[in-house]
Amino acid sequence: MADAERVLVIIPAAGSGTRFGGDVPKQFQPLGGKPLVQRAVERFLFDPVVTRVIVPVMEKLVDAVKSSPGERVTFVAGGDTRLQSVMRGLEAATSKNDDDFDLIAIHDAVRPFFSLDTFHATLDAAREHGAAFPGISLPDTVHQIANEAIAKTLDRSVLVAAQTPQCFRSDVLRDILARAAREDADATDEAGLAAKYGHHVHLVRGDSMNFKITRPEDLVMAERIWAEWGGEGDA
Ligand code: C5P
Repeated sequence: MADAERVLVIIPAAGSGTRFGGDVPKQFQPLGGKPLVQRAVERFLFDPVVTRVIVPVMEKLVDAVKSSPGERVTFVAGGDTRLQSVMRGLEAATSKNDDDFDLIAIHDAVRPFFSLDTFHATLDAAREHGAAFPGISLPDTVHQIANEAIAKTLDRSVLVAAQTPQCFRSDVLRDILARAAREDADATDEAGLAAKYGHHVHLVRGDSMNFKITRPEDLVMAERIWAEWGGEGDA
């Protein structure tokens, strides 16, 4: 790691959707007694390479979470889409600093078990190639469906499932966010957007522990893992 390299982490957490039912969005569901998003923030704060963590949340929550868990963390108002929340996060992070960040990571609030080894490998690849993401091969055969039937069986050997943290050189992320804003484009994944705009997005080996908590049963499994491993996962 180069001296004085500045690394920003953005954790978009401004979604209101809850596939869990009830009023609490999934990123605020508790894991081991603390909200999932807080678990992710704390893991990044544990890492000395991280200069700053920005968490876009729903506007109405900004005041409620203002007493942030450390001076490296700031909560800001997110936007209408995930991508807009990332843009708001970047604006907020850079408007308060004279110098820009060198590398920027974007992480799903609902992936508490990412490993710091994977994070560092992804940062290294982003420094070298401009953009990088952790991906894992698919255990299941994947079919393309039409009219409730298999239209085509996809070649699993060329497919990966994208995880986070996805990492970018600052110039690359700024380029793709500016282009997406101009074109009013949306994306569920910044790595895919970077590839769409012609950047090389390097694949780093992810791991199956870094799963995304989206359904109630994922949370049940996460609680068991947390209890068993004290939340350390394979970090
Ligand atoms: O709902 P979905 O799983 O696609 O959201 C992905 C992530 O983006 C979630 O962490 C969610 O909180 C975040 N998000 C956001 N701002 C929005 C919508 C979603 O930060 N307006």
